[in-house]
Amino acid sequence: MNQQTPSPNGTPHRRTFLKTAATAVAAPYFVPASVFGATAPSNRVNLGMVGLGNQGMLNLKLFLENKDCTVLAVCDVNRGSYGYKEPKDFYGRDPAREMVEKAYAKKAPGGSYKGCDAYTDFREVLSRDDIDAVVLTTPDHWHGVMTIKAAEAGKDIYCEKPLGLTIAEQIAMAESVRKHNRILQTGSHERSNPVIRSACELVRSGAIGKVHRVVTNVGRHNKVGPGPGWEPMPVPDTLDYDLWLGPAPEAPYHKDRCLYNFRFNYDYAGGQVANFGAHSLDIAQWGLGTDDTGPVQVESVYADFLPEGSLFNAATYTHFRLKYASGVVVESMTAEPSVRCLFEGEDGVIRIDNQARNFVTIPGSIKVEAGLTDVPEQYRSNADHHQNFLDCVRSRKEPNAPVEIGHRSATLCHLGNIASRLGGKFGWDPTAQRFTGSRAETANEMLAVKQRGVWTV
Ligand SMILES: NC(=O)c1ccc[n+]([C@@H]2O[C@H](COP(=O)([O-])OP(=O)(O)OC[C@H]3O[C@@H](n4cnc5c(N)ncnc54)[C@H](O)[C@@H]3O)[C@@H](O)[C@H]2O)c1
Repeated sequence: MNQQTPSPNGTPHRRTFLKTAATAVAAPYFVPASVFGATAPSNRVNLGMVGLGNQGMLNLKLFLENKDCTVLAVCDVNRGSYGYKEPKDFYGRDPAREMVEKAYAKKAPGGSYKGCDAYTDFREVLSRDDIDAVVLTTPDHWHGVMTIKAAEAGKDIYCEKPLGLTIAEQIAMAESVRKHNRILQTGSHERSNPVIRSACELVRSGAIGKVHRVVTNVGRHNKVGPGPGWEPMPVPDTLDYDLWLGPAPEAPYHKDRCLYNFRFNYDYAGGQVANFGAHSLDIAQWGLGTDDTGPVQVESVYADFLPEGSLFNAATYTHFRLKYASGVVVESMTAEPSVRCLFEGEDGVIRIDNQARNFVTIPGSIKVEAGLTDVPEQYRSNADHHQNFLDCVRSRKEPNAPVEIGHRSATLCHLGNIASRLGGKFGWDPTAQRFTGSRAETANEMLAVKQRGVWTV
């Protein structure tokens, strides 16, 4: 564990707190165990939540409902503002702290609770020795730096999908997590969904015969960004923009660069391919049993982009094919998805719906014969995935979506993006994790990006 440093907001750290309690000095933030439910305090996982936007607030809400953890800190470079996915969404570190205090106050005997610190700089969260694990729900360009620093600080990590911004960064993340013996759960929550597990096990058991094609879908851009000639905007006083950019290149501020919309710009994310592909292509990898490897070729069928100079530079429409050594081809297409992932085999088809709530087999007898007619339409994916993470933090067992799985699945997204941006077909060596063939040099340059200032991994 790292050195104890003073908490910037004055809340005692675990060591200080225990000392204080032992000398019977009234601690201002003392909260009875009943506030957090039945689990003994020593067994609860203390969490720091980093990134409290669209998905971060959902993660926070679910962890607050979980009796096996306590949220001690929230951290966001945005103090609090509108401008997230929906106009009514008011998110950031202050609304997040308020959510924590309200949730725990409901269970506190006095009806009030003040025990959650709010930070702008995640390094202050990492420096607290009373925090066991961090939940990283920041834009993708931050996942690598934060994961590596968290692992070095001895924290376990729930890292949202896609695992990282680039393949090179993801390899470094995996190395760091293993070197420091940390638990990392990637946020591809279908891995904890029993319906999807059954479907993938059915495919792997040979129920539809030899699989020759897998079709996956990604959604279209669901936001409109400014076109060429867009004008920079003043940075709002709620936002630490430099810390939002972090490892990404220096760039003038525009509101559509940041909250939620970052996903449409390759400096911060991998477009909808990485956003949705970290779910749908992840299921393809799971069903094919290729979690420790990948394709040997990627081919862009088509890709469409907004005019040069648009703020959103990620492809609006893509179709690419990933070919595996076994001959199976995985396709990814931009669509209005009603299907998330469809496995086509010699003897049948397994189709997983877009919400990953259920699946059908063609013929239906495959599901009947497997005794799966009564698979419940459970959909607690996120909460179950969080629970699996907390369980593994305590047991030190492998979680359902460990760092290598997150890496291999997100790699498919990055390969698709590289082929879409360069056009054409590329060989890929899944062992060396390098492009092969005549255009390999250009493509290999896209395995990593230059990171700004101190934010290099
Ligand atoms: N598992 C899922 O189903 C799911 C769904 C949506 C999003 N996500 C993932 O969650 C991540 C965030 O997406 P979102 O839609 O919530 O984005 P968002 O823009 O709504 O939220 C990101 C938050 O991170 C904050 N942030 C940025 N840099 C920070 C830093 N250095 N320190 C602390 N906070 C920082 C931003 O201010 C913002 O509040 C992405 O990686 C995305 O792919 C996962």
